[in-house]
Amino acid sequence: MTTAEIRAIGIYVPERAVSNEELSKTVDTSDEWIRSHTGIGNRHIAAPEEAASDLAIKAAKIALDKAQVDAMELDTIITATATGDYPGFPSTACIVQHALGAENAAAFDLLAGCTGFIYALSVARDMIIAGSARHILVIGAEVLTRITNWSDRNTAVLFGDGAGAAVVSANGKQDGRGILESVLRAEGAGAEYLMRKAGGSRHPFVDGETPADDLFLSMNGRRVYGFAVRVNTILINTLLRKANLRLEDINYIVPHQANERIIQAAAERLKIPMDKFFLNMAEYANTSAASVPIALNEMTEKGLLKRGDLIITLGFGAGLTYGGALIRW
Ligand code: ACO
Repeated sequence: MTTAEIRAIGIYVPERAVSNEELSKTVDTSDEWIRSHTGIGNRHIAAPEEAASDLAIKAAKIALDKAQVDAMELDTIITATATGDYPGFPSTACIVQHALGAENAAAFDLLAGCTGFIYALSVARDMIIAGSARHILVIGAEVLTRITNWSDRNTAVLFGDGAGAAVVSANGKQDGRGILESVLRAEGAGAEYLMRKAGGSRHPFVDGETPADDLFLSMNGRRVYGFAVRVNTILINTLLRKANLRLEDINYIVPHQANERIIQAAAERLKIPMDKFFLNMAEYANTSAASVPIALNEMTEKGLLKRGDLIITLGFGAGLTYGGALIRW
C-alpha cells in the first residue's frame, strides 16, 4: 500500500529577533509576565519588505533541495496561511509556484488558522493515497506581526513570523513510514474568539469609518485557552484509539507552539510527562501555521527525531479549528 511520507522539511525565520525585554520597551508588559504566562522568550519579526511568500519560498527551496525533488516534479503546492501576501487573491501558493518554477503544480491556499499546516498535510496525504499526486509541497507561512495590534498587550506578546515547508511524497516501499492517521475538526461556534473583523465581505474596509483596531487580530484569550486544552486531549486520545496504540508507543508529541501553559494543562489532564512534548515557543513564539514544521525541523536537526519514530502532531487555532496526525517518521 502506498503511504504519504514527509520526505524533507525546510524552514525560514526572519533574521530580526525581538526579545521580551526589547518588546517591553514599547508594549506595557514584562519578560517575567510573558515567560510565566506563555513560555515565550523571543520572536522573529519579518523585515518591512518581507511578505508571507518570501518566507515560504525560502523554506520551500530548502525542503526541495533536502528531498532531492525538482520543482517540476511537484503536482500541488498548498500554502496554509492567514497572512498571505494579498487579502483573498491571488493566493500565496501561486506566487510561490511561479518563484519555484513549479510549472506542473496546482497551487492553492488553505485557511485554518494555526491548524493550517495539519489540515494541509491531511489534504496532501489523501491526494497521494488516492493517486492524484506523487509530490506535494505543504507550506505553513505566516507574518502575523503584520496584523498584530501593538497596543493590545493581550495579543502583542504572543506571535512571531516564520515559514516551514514539507515535501510530502508517495512512499511505496512498504516500510511502514508515513502519515498514518489524521483527525480534522472544527468548532465554528467559537469563530469570534479569534478574528480579524474588518476587510472581508462582512465588514468591508470603508475609508474614514473602519476602526483601525478592526483590521488587526483580536482574541478572547480565556476562551481560546479553554478550547485549546480541551481539544488537545481529544486529539491525542482519538489518534491513539484510531491507531490502536498506547501513549508509551509514541516517541514525541509535537503540538502547535502557542503557549506552554496550554500544553502543561493538557499534559496534566492526560497524565503525560512534559518531556513527551517538544516545545520551542521560547525562541519563536506562536508562528501559527508555521509552528509545527519549524518544530519538526529543529527536532530532526537536533537528532531527536529519527527514522521509524512514531510522533503525534497537534494543531488548534482560529475558526475555531483543530486537528492532529500520527506519523511514522
Ligand atoms: N503583560 C502584562 N500583563 C498582562 C498581559 C501582558 N502581555 N496581558 C494581560 N495582562 C494582565 C491582564 O491585564 C490581567 O491583569 P488584571 O488581573 O489586573 O486585570 C492579568 O494580566 C491576567 O490577564 P488574563 O487575560 O486573565 O491572563 P491569563 O492568565 O488568562 O493569560 C493568555 C492570558 C496568556 C493570553 C491566555 O489567556 C492564553 O494563553 N490564551 C490562549 C492564547 C493563545 O494561545 N492564542 C493563540 C491560539 S492559536 C491561533 O490560531 C492564533
